[in-house]
Amino acid sequence: TTFSGSLRFLHLVSRLQQTIGIAFDIDGVLLRGKTPIEGASAALKQLHGTGPGDQDGKTKAGQALIPHVYLTNGGGVTEAAKAEELASLLDVPVSEEQVILGHTPFKNYVDRYRDQRVLSVGKGDTKKVMEAYGFRHVVPMEEYVHEFPDIDPLAPYGPSARQTEARNPPDLPPEHRIAAVFVVSDPVNWGRDIQVLCDVLRSGGFPGHADTPHPPQVPLFLAADDFEYQAMFPVPRFGMGAFRIALESLFNRLYHKPLSHVAYGKPSPEPYRFALEALRKQHAQLCRPADPSATVSFDRVYMVGDNPKTDVRGALNAGHPWRPILTRTGVYRGNHRVYKSPGDGPGESGPHSFETPVMSTV
Ligand code: G3P
Ligand code: MG
Repeated sequence: TTFSGSLRFLHLVSRLQQTIGIAFDIDGVLLRGKTPIEGASAALKQLHGTGPGDQDGKTKAGQALIPHVYLTNGGGVTEAAKAEELASLLDVPVSEEQVILGHTPFKNYVDRYRDQRVLSVGKGDTKKVMEAYGFRHVVPMEEYVHEFPDIDPLAPYGPSARQTEARNPPDLPPEHRIAAVFVVSDPVNWGRDIQVLCDVLRSGGFPGHADTPHPPQVPLFLAADDFEYQAMFPVPRFGMGAFRIALESLFNRLYHKPLSHVAYGKPSPEPYRFALEALRKQHAQLCRPADPSATVSFDRVYMVGDNPKTDVRGALNAGHPWRPILTRTGVYRGNHRVYKSPGDGPGESGPHSFETPVMSTV
């Protein structure tokens, strides 16, 4: 029954509260687009001790019984804005400290690029995101292209064609040099963005200087490398990894060296480190309010995800205390109780193969 199920759940929590944490993937596990996946809100409420049958379905932030975070490769908004959105869509308290987005690890680069000009790319307010991290000179692609009116010859045919005052690229002062490129979220205008990124990356950050003999490539950072992800459409959509492949294949035809880049997001280890740190802080607040600096060693942290190549692979790469759980609610649609990744050879096993349990829903 629901009651005995709840008791069993609470008993489990009382035994394990000190040692377990959970990281929830968002797209394909909790949401599809802006629509909650069936069961997601109810499951999250249980983590706060309020199930669907409880009188008071609302709880205050900080009352979670089990430390948990939201670990997504998506972004284009600040962690605070995402927390607000999740709280309203899923009807549970969510704080910005619980949200790790694909671009959250970009914080690591603030010291290096704080006072240099960086180009931000992708959907949403990428400038706002980067400025929230502490970058002071961020120019989003939408503004940058207007410094070079002829850089995108297809712009007059696009939906938001806009006339701007012509500027001659060679006259641009040195402070206009782009020191690094950050792809913050999924690019919207692939054709334009690939063209301009090729210009920026191979010109030392000064597009239009065709004569310069091979300056070093401008550093390129991507918030994620998902080939595809689950949105509202029944079939998964191309993600930032697909964009990276398109950019790379064209850039490599132009430049004397293959594209060099760093991609964050799952399965890279960095977001798992951020998540573990957030879980530790949450645990300290929940269980040791008297000494919030006390750190805990989690026995297990579950990564609940829908994408074997990002969520599961990343949790396995991250090692202890991470344990992956795969759902059938998004990218993965198989019918097996255990997922076996395709191996390297005819025997379907090899150094890169793995197995993980599968759940039907959250
Ligand atoms: O753009 C969103 C996508 O990259 C994946 O999001 O929540 O499944 O990691 P998520
Ligand atoms: Mg997902």
